[in-house]
Amino acid sequence: MGAGREMAISLDGVRDKNVMQLKKLNTALFPVRYNDKYYADALASGEFTKLAYFSDICVGSIACRLEKKEGAVRVYIMTLGVLAPYRGLGVGTKLLTHVLDLSSKQNISEIYLHVQTNNDDAIAFYKKFGFEITETIQNYYTNITPPDCYVLSKVFSHVSPKK
Ligand code: ACO
Repeated sequence: MGAGREMAISLDGVRDKNVMQLKKLNTALFPVRYNDKYYADALASGEFTKLAYFSDICVGSIACRLEKKEGAVRVYIMTLGVLAPYRGLGVGTKLLTHVLDLSSKQNISEIYLHVQTNNDDAIAFYKKFGFEITETIQNYYTNITPPDCYVLSKVFSHVSPKK
């Protein structure tokens, strides 16, 4: 990808005032209607949830939930998506590397997500960034076919033990 194309992509945080943009993207991208908890978790994750702009058009987002367990924090990627006409331009990479960079600067133990087993593009995309399939869950989804998902996970080795 050329550096010029990369420069056209910028990220913005999600706040009460622009959370509508995330809702609109999710409606266009995913066959699931997300509930209030999803949006509350996304807003609470702060810098771990971002909108992506291509020039001044909102074209993609990453929404995460932070899970605290025994002193360590795990990041769960609830959704990552880019509108179809804007795929293959580096927007997904910009969103995911933002969250990976943030995770490596903080005490994040693991980053993980669920992906439908037939979503070859997304699986290949995540593998490029070092994610591995750790589990297959049958009948994870109720309204889509196939109903099965993989758990994709990337473990960080930098985590310092709890003092
Ligand atoms: N066909 C094949 N490979 C592709 C394509 C494509 N259309 N688009 C991207 N890739 C691959 C390429 O290997 C590319 O690497 P390269 O640039 O070195 O060739 C790599 O992915 C990165 O491409 P980006 O342009 O950074 O990614 P993009 O902006 O297209 O976003 C994403 C990738 C988010 C997976 C996008 O395809 C998408 O929105 N898909 C639909 C929604 C989805 O399935 N999201 C993930 C579900 S799981 C979850 O949300 C937790």
